[in-house]
Amino acid sequence: MRSLLSICDIKNEVPDILKLAKEFKERKIKNKPLEGKSLAMIFQKSSTRTRVSFEVGMYELGGNSLFLSSDELQMGRGEPISDTAKVLSRYVDGVMIRAVEHEDVVEFRDKSDVPIISGLTNLEHPCQVLADMLTVKEYLGNFDGKFTYVGDGNNVCNSLILICACLGMDIAIACPSGYEPNQEIVKKAKKIANEFGSKIIITNDIETAVNNAVVVYTDVWVSMGDEEEQLKRMNDFRKYQVNSQLMKLASENAIFMHCLPAIRGQEVESEVIDGPQSVIIDQAENRLHAQKAVLYYFLK
Ligand code: CP
Ligand code: NVA
Repeated sequence: MRSLLSICDIKNEVPDILKLAKEFKERKIKNKPLEGKSLAMIFQKSSTRTRVSFEVGMYELGGNSLFLSSDELQMGRGEPISDTAKVLSRYVDGVMIRAVEHEDVVEFRDKSDVPIISGLTNLEHPCQVLADMLTVKEYLGNFDGKFTYVGDGNNVCNSLILICACLGMDIAIACPSGYEPNQEIVKKAKKIANEFGSKIIITNDIETAVNNAVVVYTDVWVSMGDEEEQLKRMNDFRKYQVNSQLMKLASENAIFMHCLPAIRGQEVESEVIDGPQSVIIDQAENRLHAQKAVLYYFLK
């Protein structure tokens, strides 16, 4: 029994899971491999894509899903994580959790007898980046060029660094000082990148980072839970907007990506996110296919 909390949990299996996701997308796997299985989905934060794609994904695989808002669970009134994990393990075949604290999901996994899949924590967003790399493969055909992430060194950024390392793709992160990605993750990713032969660059210099990139990716400046820092962040990230001027530095055929939800006029100009280089809707669609692959891989 295995769980997916971090891209490190599937360090050597990313290509296999992406291959499986492609097969699901092409409808090559027709039967209902998760028939009779149930997935509990615990949400401590809002969601559109993660919730709907997991729910529809389970349905299409022949299984059942239960949406559990943490406010409505006894856990929201203080029931220990360990009791919740042990009890749910007697009812369902897997649990997807979107949590505030990564450590809570680690504890949940340690106490659970069924696989746990992270649907985002403060530290990582592994399912998102599997969909992202499926999208990169579809548009670019390979992982040869430079992937550039501009903005906050947040959960999405941490998982992108790890998955690029696992796929041997160079990644550059351009972030304001004080908003660098998690140091432990970068350390782990550098080790993986050494093994798979790619580079990780972390810089405050947005122009150098975007220069010649084949992917330009950004995410919100204020993630869920960071709302109190809104004003400070608006000021600190001011120079880190992805706009058409910046896109000119990237490779001519570069694609623009965003995990969504996005705020036009903040981290990205409408001209870019709604322009011809943007692949955001295909990227969001791929959450469904990548997640079906994850569900099949971990729950079957
Ligand atoms: N990208 C993503 O995880 O979207 P949701 O917050 O809508 O699930
Ligand atoms: N970094 C964002 C991603 C949302 C999908 C957040 O954590 O709110």
